[in-house]
Amino acid sequence: MASIPLKKKNLVRPSTFLAQWGMFFRQFVKHPGMIGSIIPSSASLVDAMLADVDWARARLFVEYGPGVGTFTRTVLERMHPDATLLAIDLNLDFVAFLEAQIDDPRLRVVHGSAADVRRFIRESGHRQADYILSGIPFSTLPEGVGEDICAETRTALKPDGAFLVYQYSAYMRRLLSPQFEELQERVEWRNVPPCRMFTATKREVLAQAA
Ligand SMILES: C[S@@+](CC[C@H](N)C(=O)[O-])C[C@H]1O[C@@H](n2cnc3c(N)ncnc32)[C@H](O)[C@@H]1O
Repeated sequence: MASIPLKKKNLVRPSTFLAQWGMFFRQFVKHPGMIGSIIPSSASLVDAMLADVDWARARLFVEYGPGVGTFTRTVLERMHPDATLLAIDLNLDFVAFLEAQIDDPRLRVVHGSAADVRRFIRESGHRQADYILSGIPFSTLPEGVGEDICAETRTALKPDGAFLVYQYSAYMRRLLSPQFEELQERVEWRNVPPCRMFTATKREVLAQAA
């Protein structure tokens, strides 16, 4: 699928709360399995998910399933001026919505699947990501796709990089634990409904000399 780079100055256009929710709801009605939630994530979930990100270090931040940009806007507010945010969404209407709403040279929005993250990173001129954040509904993906995305994500991350995932079920735990050396799990109770937050960290274990 085509890669659609965004250009120009830092500018988040004033889309109303209602416009974002309306767009999100319409896409949920059209593609319930792909969207996985009837409303966008809450501000409390965004804050809790991004609280431990080391913004001074991060130069490539990847977002899977940005939707109407609920996390995207906050990531851009906090991100280093020289960093890149690569946002990957399977839904072309969301890609077009983000293009129309956010004008920031650090943002690159691409239409496609998270399963192709390594190709999108290469095409954006980078080698690996510092953080990958995911809002995609893993529990409704076709058989085997979730496992493939987790394996690709681990390869796409730098050593000590982290995969940040929010989901409404504990399903993710069994996908993440075989792939990542460290896994932390918390719950954001103020989100409606309460949401599980996973931080899966890639550690490279050096072979010990005998
Ligand atoms: C629950 S919505 C999350 C939207 C937003 N990040 C939020 O938290 O409000 C799920 C998003 O994942 C996208 N999506 C689903 N499967 C995907 C895949 N395989 N690769 C990339 N995006 C995907 C959907 O199009 C949708 O934008």
